[in-house]
Amino acid sequence: MRYMNPFVTEVDFASGELSAPGYVIQRKLSDMASMYADEAAARRTLADEGDRLIYEVQGVELPDEEGQIPHCTTRILPGRIGDEYHMTKGHYHARREQGEVYFGLSGRGCLVMQTETGETSVVQMVAGSAAYVPPFWAHRTVNVGDEDFVFFSVWEARAGHDYGTIERDGFRKLVLMRDGQPTVVDNPRIS
Ligand SMILES: [Fe+2]
Repeated sequence: MRYMNPFVTEVDFASGELSAPGYVIQRKLSDMASMYADEAAARRTLADEGDRLIYEVQGVELPDEEGQIPHCTTRILPGRIGDEYHMTKGHYHARREQGEVYFGLSGRGCLVMQTETGETSVVQMVAGSAAYVPPFWAHRTVNVGDEDFVFFSVWEARAGHDYGTIERDGFRKLVLMRDGQPTVVDNPRIS
């Protein structure tokens, strides 16, 4: 373990902007079109409107070493693909035994979680919500509001990210607009 000096990062709650981001990741619709339940709607949106930004991550760069506590903000833009609200790709941690904390900064969202044994959970998040992702739970966030949904994440450096399992299998629960309201439904692709 290397020795480091303490530091502070200023976080803009409305935008998720960091005063000195170590990295910025942008995920556009073209990066995740196949992850939406209505992939045809995603392809249609791309063809008719062009690409769109779905979410942006701004993070503090830290060594990938045990004991380090990486943290970042995520800003999910409002909108839907078909009936499905804008969302992150979602992932398991490569080391499944590592949890994570999400803290809502602005807007309104859902945190969709599941385990590999088939359990599911969907919790609401607003500004001030501290949501806990326990070990073994995959996690995805969804913007169900009309404004940006912004939250702050804290995890352990060695957790790692396994995006592939979700890209292949999807989430069991989807968050769709039904009668104008966010509604959790079963993913018809998963029996
Ligand atoms: Fe995570």
